[in-house]
Amino acid sequence: MIGTKKLAIYGGKPVSQKRKWPKWPQSNQKTEAYIKKVLKGERWSIGKFDPKDLSFNEIFCEKFSEFNSSRHVLTLDHGSNAILVALQALGITKGDEVIVPSLTWVSCATAVLRANATPILVDVEPASQCMSPYHTEQAITSKTKAILMVHLHSCMANVDAFLSLAEKYNLFVIEDCSQAHGAEWNGKKAGTFGTIGVFSTEQSKLLTSGEGGILTTEDGALYEKMFLLNNDGRRKGKYYLEEDGSLIGANFALTEFQSAILCAGLEALPAQNAIREENASYLAALLKEVPGVMNISPYNQNNKRAYFHFNFRIDRNFFNNKNISQICAALTAELGFWVKTNHQPINNCKLFHPKRDQKYNWLLLPNYASNHFQESIRQFESTVLIHHSILLAKRENMEKIYQAVLKVQQLSLYIDQ
Ligand SMILES: Cc1ncc(COP(=O)(O)O)c(C=O)c1O
Repeated sequence: MIGTKKLAIYGGKPVSQKRKWPKWPQSNQKTEAYIKKVLKGERWSIGKFDPKDLSFNEIFCEKFSEFNSSRHVLTLDHGSNAILVALQALGITKGDEVIVPSLTWVSCATAVLRANATPILVDVEPASQCMSPYHTEQAITSKTKAILMVHLHSCMANVDAFLSLAEKYNLFVIEDCSQAHGAEWNGKKAGTFGTIGVFSTEQSKLLTSGEGGILTTEDGALYEKMFLLNNDGRRKGKYYLEEDGSLIGANFALTEFQSAILCAGLEALPAQNAIREENASYLAALLKEVPGVMNISPYNQNNKRAYFHFNFRIDRNFFNNKNISQICAALTAELGFWVKTNHQPINNCKLFHPKRDQKYNWLLLPNYASNHFQESIRQFESTVLIHHSILLAKRENMEKIYQAVLKVQQLSLYIDQ
């Protein structure tokens, strides 16, 4: 407590009391109209085609292709399955290695295991929090087949460096844009740089259908292969899905309801991303004034940022060395929305323990020590994440976030460990 000020987590008056922060996911009248059309129709999933009456799935793929300047687009039920299908389409399998950042969502590594290949984790860069090209090059062996280039939170990975590595070592780049819908590198959209681009449209994402995924590629043959892998080995006929049989696929199809939601969401995305970008710049400028707060630095080439999270780091010396979970809990109490910590480094994540469990002994995985990825650990222990929906609030509400961070910094001595 300083004077009469007390942290909200201990019963003090919150900085932002009963404020209605924007909710996520969001829908609008178009979403409702599109869903209604599906509900009344006879096409609830992929499988029936009519050249005179395109399905929402076909419309979405066309619209996303236009939005992203990606020649071929297909949808799936989950982003994780999109990574799996991308790996399978590239022929990556047992004995092959795929380089994956140590700081990302866990399914980036587990999708590689599901393809029977080996994920090789690499550390991240301090400024952007994205995977490090230096550590990636160190990790390349004769077994390496691909790099899973993940764009994280609000920054794109160093696209130029990864494309050079791919060329030098003859590797595929699978570009994971699950956290970067609409981001740009030198004026070109995320998802156009890799051999294949992958997006999740799970509930929390910038573009969402509750669950879902998208694949993009310039390569027509790869597109055909991914379509078969995604639809039980069936290809698109004039009116129906038709057996092809050249590949054993699985059913990863997205429903028409989800495609309808995506159509409405895509129409709203550019304007929403612009508001987020504007509010994020304002918030970053405000937070510069708080002792011990460090903003994230994207590469200059990342000319348009997509904020899945507004992320910033704190120097714990300025927060009385309190741990990041407690600081985020104190901020949550001040602001009335969930202020989150970063992803755990994957090798320490409870969801990823193949080497601790006997049944995974057959996997040819490196056994990483828990302190192996020093930079990822540093980033985990110092990052504060604010979900993108909050950036859709009015500009003046960014000041509330600044006030809450300042208050927690000033009163950090009183936070229990
Ligand atoms: C970077 C990244 N890759 C992949 C995924 C997996 O997507 P999904 O949850 O749709 O399977 C996510 C989802 O959180 C993600 O953030």
